[in-house]
Amino acid sequence: MDVTKLMFKDGLLKGERILVTGGGTGLGKEMAEGFLKLGAEVVIWGRRGGVLEETANELMGKHGGVVVPQATDIRSAEAISESLDHIWQARGPLTGLVNNAAGNFISRTQDLSPRGFDAIANIVFKGTFYTTLDVGKRWIAGGGRGNVINILTTWVWNGSPFTVPSAMSKSGVRAMAESLAVEWGRYGIRFNNICPGPFPTKGAWERLSPGQAQDGSESAANKSNPLGRVGEMHELVNLAVFLMGPGAEYVNGQTIAIDGAMYQATGGNFSGLREWGDEQWDFVRNMIKSANEKDRAQRTT
Ligand code: HXC
Repeated sequence: MDVTKLMFKDGLLKGERILVTGGGTGLGKEMAEGFLKLGAEVVIWGRRGGVLEETANELMGKHGGVVVPQATDIRSAEAISESLDHIWQARGPLTGLVNNAAGNFISRTQDLSPRGFDAIANIVFKGTFYTTLDVGKRWIAGGGRGNVINILTTWVWNGSPFTVPSAMSKSGVRAMAESLAVEWGRYGIRFNNICPGPFPTKGAWERLSPGQAQDGSESAANKSNPLGRVGEMHELVNLAVFLMGPGAEYVNGQTIAIDGAMYQATGGNFSGLREWGDEQWDFVRNMIKSANEKDRAQRTT
């Protein structure tokens, strides 16, 4: 990300301590960098300890400040509690939470097994709730304010063929945010959702657009977007900072798309894949499989 394109003044987030799940790579890493650059202390979670350490060192090397890497699998409520205990004891309470961690892959729904569904739902639907519940209980008990942003997709409005477990799970998270925005507003805890369109990252592109250039130059997403391009990271980060920062306190319970109006123009989902046949799906499944295997190997180191 070009941090000179951040629209906010340095020091805006001073005094904030923000947890970004899935903060070691992709969109999470970009948001972590933006928060850090603007003065926040940042905690990043992911399943691969080595990747988190590398990201923390890289970001602190560039901007100074504090990034705390914690290998935490949000599918485990116990792991979440343990990591939060450590943060509350060693650093102090969080002030912000970005539920960004996700898993996803394109697949015909008839090719999914229950385990395939769970691979997505356990991260996105359950893991997001477990994290929010644990952090929220600590905020309520401590009498402190809190701010939650969920990273969703525009599919929460119109569904998404070929990524049904993700569409279902992200829609559930939207319902959580809209419910808790009301229920926990009295505690000074607010919730908003961001729905990014195509912001190419390695993790998403390997599983959602396998074989397509990551800068989006050859992608259908790029060609069909009303702006003729994919998103730039600073655009997403500016929105996240706005929602997280001081001065936006009255924004609560909202779901905001940032996709160049792709959702209005095309539905913003994978409906174009209806043309694919058996051969194409087999090919793509194998590509996704090898990306998953590479990731899994890193998790054990
Ligand atoms: C059908 C598949 C499959 C595929 C896996 N499965 N890939 N089924 N088609 N392509 C099935 C397997 O067969 C297995 O079921 C089950 O899923 C679990 O498989 P594992 O390989 O053990 O999965 P796991 O190691 O848990 O990893 C899956 C994952 C992984 C969690 C989804 O990809 C991951 O860690 N992803 C994190 C990064 C990521 O996905 N980023 C993209 C997020 S993008 P059986 O029954 O065979 O045992 C996003 C929105 C983007 O969220 C929006 C863009 C606009």
